[in-house]
Amino acid sequence: MKDDQIIICRCEDGTLADVKDAIHRLGLRSVEEIKRVKRFGMGHCQGKTCGKLISQIISRELNISYEDMAPATTRQPAKAVSVKEFASYQEGN
Ligand code: FES
Repeated sequence: MKDDQIIICRCEDGTLADVKDAIHRLGLRSVEEIKRVKRFGMGHCQGKTCGKLISQIISRELNISYEDMAPATTRQPAKAVSVKEFASYQEGN
């Protein structure tokens, strides 16, 4: 397997080559931009697995400090919740 075929986003089936393409060909500069265009980070885990990896790739490819990069946003719930669990939720529990 070539390095560029390494899976970065398992939920949306995105490879290292896909992320590099988004950076260099499409000119995307943040995790949020890549998320909106390529859907990486919009899968079941909401980017918990791939978000930091994509930040590191952007940092390395564009020579930007990792610490200076804005983190990707996430939406709740990050895991599936049944209607029964949702209906029985009480604040403070
Ligand atoms: S691994 Fe990318 S959204 Fe889950």
